[in-house]
Amino acid sequence: MPNTGPAIVVDKLCKYYGANKAVDNISFTVKSGEVFAFLGPNGAGKSTTAEVIETIRVPTSGTVTVLGMDVTKHKAKVVRRIGVLPQNFSSFDRITVRESLQYFARVFGCRADVDALMDLTDLRHKSGAPFNTLSGGLKQRLGIAIALVSDPEIVFLDEPTTGLDPHARHQIWDVLRGLKARGKTVFLTTHYMEEAELLADTVAIIASGRIVAMDSPAKLTEEHAEQTRLTLTSIDATAVGLIRSLGFSPIPKGNDSLSVPIKTPDDVRRILAEIERAGLALGGLDVRKPNLEEVFLKLTKTPAVSAQVRAA
Ligand SMILES: Nc1ncnc2c1ncn2[C@@H]1O[C@H](COP(=O)(O)OP(=O)(O)OP(=O)(O)O)[C@@H](O)[C@H]1O
Ligand SMILES: [Mg+2]
Repeated sequence: MPNTGPAIVVDKLCKYYGANKAVDNISFTVKSGEVFAFLGPNGAGKSTTAEVIETIRVPTSGTVTVLGMDVTKHKAKVVRRIGVLPQNFSSFDRITVRESLQYFARVFGCRADVDALMDLTDLRHKSGAPFNTLSGGLKQRLGIAIALVSDPEIVFLDEPTTGLDPHARHQIWDVLRGLKARGKTVFLTTHYMEEAELLADTVAIIASGRIVAMDSPAKLTEEHAEQTRLTLTSIDATAVGLIRSLGFSPIPKGNDSLSVPIKTPDDVRRILAEIERAGLALGGLDVRKPNLEEVFLKLTKTPAVSAQVRAA
């Protein structure tokens, strides 16, 4: 049955391992066709949540529906419509890329177009290469291709780019863009803020089993991060008064630097014009926009961690 509603609905989900509340009463919805990024520190409960949605683990309480089906009641139907790249994916060492894809297609009982899958993940040139000869990035791309053999509507990717070099990471991002262009819903677990910022429509941040924020990357940044800052380096101390007279609040940062919270590009022009008018020398400047990393660090900071850092 085609799905017209949300791809995933998680309602008051709890998953306990003994006394450990790995997932503690979380609720969220993943829209069809969106890239939903799940961020959180190690042990926050990301994989556990994904594994409950994937039907692998049984929830302690709460409900999860995938494409309108309760995951505890329709496991077989749900797994036919999802694809999964598990965290730390590995495959048969001596089996080639093509053989792996053909084998998993048989396992899933589907007639996959193996060449098309290799094209989508840019693996054609490695079709005859055994798994143990592939680089980390190629292995992950094979993992994504395997997750796609049944042409699923939802693809779960648990840390697909962890440990990869920047080139390999960018290649995976291209694959993810391809999935989105094909209308797939992508549930992406990642530790890379840049990845979430670039690819995700919605970001959920989870800490100690609870969702602490959820929105588009732009809205999260707008709501939780600090303002854009203009940093001026090697500048005379008299600049503080000048910039203040324009209505800004410059903060001296040491090494003859000033940090000025600003709102618009015009603020930069006004400040630079005033410095020039006063004939002050300026060593350099940098404009830093707030980013998701700031939001993440702010929202997932625990008192215990701060205390440890202070004590060290
Ligand atoms: N099978 C299990 N049995 C007992 N405890 C578990 C099990 N799997 C996970 N946990 C615990 O549940 C909590 C959440 O783990 P989970 O793997 O879901 O976190 P994560 O956010 O995916 O972390 P990471 O970023 O390190 O992958 C952790 O405290 C972990 O030790
Ligand atoms: Mg995990």
